[in-house]
Amino acid sequence: MVKPVYGYGNSVLRKHAEEIDESYEDLQLLIDTMFETMNVSDGVGLAAPQIGLSIRLFIIDASSMVEDYPEAEDFKKVFINPEIIELSGEEWRFVEGCLSVPGIREEISRPSQVTIKYYDESFTEHITTYSGIIARIIQHEYDHLEGKLFIDHVNPLRKKLLKKQLVAIEKGTVPIDYRMKFSSR
Ligand code: NI
Repeated sequence: MVKPVYGYGNSVLRKHAEEIDESYEDLQLLIDTMFETMNVSDGVGLAAPQIGLSIRLFIIDASSMVEDYPEAEDFKKVFINPEIIELSGEEWRFVEGCLSVPGIREEISRPSQVTIKYYDESFTEHITTYSGIIARIIQHEYDHLEGKLFIDHVNPLRKKLLKKQLVAIEKGTVPIDYRMKFSSR
């Protein structure tokens, strides 16, 4: 099943998402739906708030980035109730985009390593340190669970310049090639 992606302006993207437990109804179905929704929109990560669910769950499939980033090879994972334990390494800049913010791409600075505690889809706990592009995607997706978007990391002047485009996303007047739910419709 493919769900519409909630666009910038929807309040669910600004909420602190809630933890879930093993009894969460139809969890596997939800995970499958998230992967399908991400795949049809050519994303490499998707957080549950982006399909309107304020729960602490995100998925990543970075395998398409393997050519430029060897660490992305076969990287397909589910992160449930994640908790960032440590950010480390040097900050590096990378041009990010987000399925909820179509048409905007901005260079964002983030630390190169992240140590994260999370549960996988069978609720097995992991504590792992990731680096490179994987650490980048994890931080971007984790932000979604905190009600944060990548554009919150750009400087105020830059954000001012993006204002018009952001209003257009709220209104749903931007071109998109996947299904979205806009806040004003
Ligand atoms: Ni995003």
